Amino acid sequence: MIDLRPYLAGAGLALFGLAWVPLSGLLPRTAEPPQPAVLDAYYNLAAQQSITLRSLFTEVPPLDEAGMKERAAGHYEMVCADCHGSPLRPPQQFSRNLSPTPPLLVERMAQWHPPARIFATVKHGISRTAMPGWPTLLRDDEVWDMVAFLRTLPELDAHTYASMIRQDASGDCESCHGMDGQGGIPGTPRLDIQIPDYLAASLEAFRNGTRQSGTMMAAARQLSDDEITQLAHHYGRDVNERGTGTPAGAAEIVQRGIPQRDVPACASCHNNPDRPGYPKLDGQDPAYLFRQLKLFKEHRAERGGPNGHIMAEVVRFLEEDEMKALAQWYGR
Ligand code: HEC
Ligand code: HEC
Ligand code: HEC
Repeated sequence: MIDLRPYLAGAGLALFGLAWVPLSGLLPRTAEPPQPAVLDAYYNLAAQQSITLRSLFTEVPPLDEAGMKERAAGHYEMVCADCHGSPLRPPQQFSRNLSPTPPLLVERMAQWHPPARIFATVKHGISRTAMPGWPTLLRDDEVWDMVAFLRTLPELDAHTYASMIRQDASGDCESCHGMDGQGGIPGTPRLDIQIPDYLAASLEAFRNGTRQSGTMMAAARQLSDDEITQLAHHYGRDVNERGTGTPAGAAEIVQRGIPQRDVPACASCHNNPDRPGYPKLDGQDPAYLFRQLKLFKEHRAERGGPNGHIMAEVVRFLEEDEMKALAQWYGR
């Protein structure tokens, strides 16, 4: 019989030692002065390996679709540029005192960066550094937009970047939603066709985190109740527009639904004067409509919005090509 006591005592002492290291306060964890390079390298290796693991089986979608880069550019300027800089401005002063210091992505993205790794980094963030994860884990589509943008960042000159983020726009919202909320970037909604109540309820949902969009959660987080009311009245002008009215097959679903598959007629709710709080679809951006339909189908009520659960039921048995046709029919 082996005497285990020396081993147990040794293990106990080792545990005590492990506990003592942080308790002693001697382990460098300050941002200024930065921690020793060897500790940086240690954590960095762990972070890189964890990103590798998360990116192994990621399927990369097409990254050259219309509007992808443009949709992400506004979010980059609003959130990321403070730490990482942009073609138009250096990072904020505070970011230079972070440890590790955020890299200048205009330069860094020119190095080897496969899309799946950028995706994992932007979606999950990097713990123990200032690098945040995406505000919602449900919106891979938004994260892919950002990947598409970051891949072109090194080649973007200041002028092109300025026009992508519409630097000349009069307000923060207009850089993405267009002049007076009339839209323009494929996949981003126009606001002018809606009534104020709908816009206000949506903004509250983004602010509370109950409607899932990393971009809008970031844009709405700081808004006060008064600001929401003001913005909703400013942009919600109830403008009447028409969609393309094609393809003809979609008109059938709009008017009568698909009874044999329990799909209700869209027109029973949308554009129905008895349901004024429901969003208008006529003249909306078609790529945005398609994206929302896919979100309802994929995430059901989790997509959120004050009445998101209603749409979650509507799309259950809609096929993707039908959604595309409907988005085109309503879209401008
Ligand atoms: C508060 C500061 C901060 C913000 C805001 C921030 N990051 Fe970072 N980011 C960092 C830091 C710090 C690192 C480096 C982490 C490290 O060295 O392990 C980093 C690393 C990265 C990397 C990895 C670079 C590489 O070489 O692999 C990417 C990509 C990135 N950030 C993208 C973004 C995007 C996109 C946004 C906006 C959605 C963003 N970051 C917002 C601080 C920030
Ligand atoms: C960085 C780009 C960006 C900025 C800045 C931005 N938005 Fe948005 N907004 C979007 C995108 C993208 C969506 C679509 C979200 C989704 O996919 O669910 C959206 C959605 C919305 C919606 C929902 C519309 C609907 O039909 O349901 C409202 C309302 C809205 N934004 C208002 C605003 C207001 C007001 C501001 C200014 C405080 C603002 N946005 C700033 C990009 C932006
Ligand atoms: C039973 C009522 C109802 C029916 C039927 C209905 N919808 Fe909706 N729909 C809603 C409501 C309510 C919302 C708003 C969800 C929210 O609160 O964000 C909505 C939202 C949407 C949105 C997102 C709009 C935006 O601005 O974000 C799209 C796209 C949409 N519906 C398409 C359709 C289509 C296409 C049909 C027909 C197949 C349809 N809807 C049928 C009630 C309905």
